[in-house]
Amino acid sequence: MKRIVLATAALAACSSHHSSATDDGGGGVPDTNITSTAPTDPVKDAAAKMIDEGRHTFRYDTFGDEAFWGGTLRLHEAVATLSPKAALGLGLKVDVDALPGDVVAGVKNGSISLDDPKTTLALLQANAVVGVTGFVDNGKLTSIGIQCALCHSTVDDSVAPGLGHRLDGWPNRDLDVGQIIAAAPDLSSIAQLLDTDQDTVRTVLKSWGPGKFDAELILDGKAMRPDGKPAATLIPPAFGLQGVNLHTWTGWGSIPYWNAFVAVLEMHGKGTFFDPRLDDAQKFPIAAKNHFGHVTTDDDRVTEKLPALHAYQLALRAPAPPAGSFDADAAERGDQLFGGKAKCTRCHTDELYTEPGWDLHRGAEVGVDDFQAMRSPDGMYRTSPLHGLWAHQKGGFFHDGRFATLADVVAHYDQLFTLGLTANEQHDLVEYLKSL
Ligand code: HEC
Ligand code: HEC
Repeated sequence: MKRIVLATAALAACSSHHSSATDDGGGGVPDTNITSTAPTDPVKDAAAKMIDEGRHTFRYDTFGDEAFWGGTLRLHEAVATLSPKAALGLGLKVDVDALPGDVVAGVKNGSISLDDPKTTLALLQANAVVGVTGFVDNGKLTSIGIQCALCHSTVDDSVAPGLGHRLDGWPNRDLDVGQIIAAAPDLSSIAQLLDTDQDTVRTVLKSWGPGKFDAELILDGKAMRPDGKPAATLIPPAFGLQGVNLHTWTGWGSIPYWNAFVAVLEMHGKGTFFDPRLDDAQKFPIAAKNHFGHVTTDDDRVTEKLPALHAYQLALRAPAPPAGSFDADAAERGDQLFGGKAKCTRCHTDELYTEPGWDLHRGAEVGVDDFQAMRSPDGMYRTSPLHGLWAHQKGGFFHDGRFATLADVVAHYDQLFTLGLTANEQHDLVEYLKSL
């Protein structure tokens, strides 16, 4: 009872916070744009309300998943021992807008210790740890839940590294999801599902590294690629997806499809999920056996939130590159090459930067192996939309980050398609990619 009261109070505190006009976590789109211009336009009013609701869900809704992360895995017991420094080291981020001014000042001048796990508890109580909800009873952490923002938001580091204003939609490429889950005391439920032991589960989780997660592991149990490297993929941005048909690296479905998938199957929120494609026992042995394509519940906390959550993600435009972060003249020349000699627009159609229509390709078409593609229903890779590339360079490019830099991507295509790009032309193309 107590924890419900506390959780409700925390949510009330953040909803008054997130409706403030100065709060701009929307990837560069202030809510004032929508709310202030057309008070008499019912369509815009309804859209603005949906975006507010969707933002709240994206940032603060656990969908009841604390029953899994706290209840089953007991992850809160590990988190309770973490100093803020250790938490920041695992890539967790702190939303300074959730903190009172004197706390921010205390962090800045060092009077508040970042070495004391009690500070972590205080940050959780203030609802300031991005994507994580702590349930606190009598000064003790009793459970923990996670949100979309855990993986798909970061902060602007304006106060200190890892402490700043929220940047929703930005993939958190510092976040070591695998290390965090591996710290939970009881992974027996995952071990059972994967028909292995907890030590093996921990080894797999620890192999992922920062900025990565393996959404398909609980469907097919494949922990490693054929070359022995971890099967995890990069966390993609949740911004810049306007007009894009299929989502995820391998085109599993639409935004609301994938949101339901993640909220129910990955986050373990309480919800409904339907996808008979997961009954394919050849491709998805674990999902088929456990009927993951047929999840129902009497207490659905996901489905009713999908419309507004969808609206919010569509409102998250890719952030514009900072002035001076690329060479404008070179980018101009690169633009010509992109649609000309380098033939990139064959797939990354101008403006959308993916295909309008069916946006999938076989691995061989882009010179990569089929392993990850074959873990999805269509066996293909989705043409990545390229807006905001500059904002997720950490961790590399392509689904598994196999190309460390944009220069490596361009060199790969040059070779694959025998484009004959000179070193200068490759440089110009990279500057263009940084300008999107
Ligand atoms: C534990 C980290 C994690 C959490 C939590 C998470 N995601 Fe993701 N998300 C990922 C990863 C990894 C992928 C890529 C999966 C793939 O391609 O197989 C992804 C893919 C996506 C995509 C597709 C992006 C594109 O380029 O098409 C969207 C949209 C998305 N997530 C939204 C959400 C929403 C909304 C939530 C909350 C309901 C959420 N995610 C929760 C890690 C996460
Ligand atoms: C045949 C279609 C096709 C062509 C032609 C093509 N791409 Fe791609 N591109 C893709 C696909 C599919 C992916 C996703 C690959 C993956 O996830 O492994 C991709 C991924 C990328 C990425 C990585 C995005 C990210 O978020 O990691 C960049 C950058 C890129 N392409 C740039 C280019 C450039 C520059 C050219 C021209 C030289 C080009 N592409 C030509 C289909 C294409």
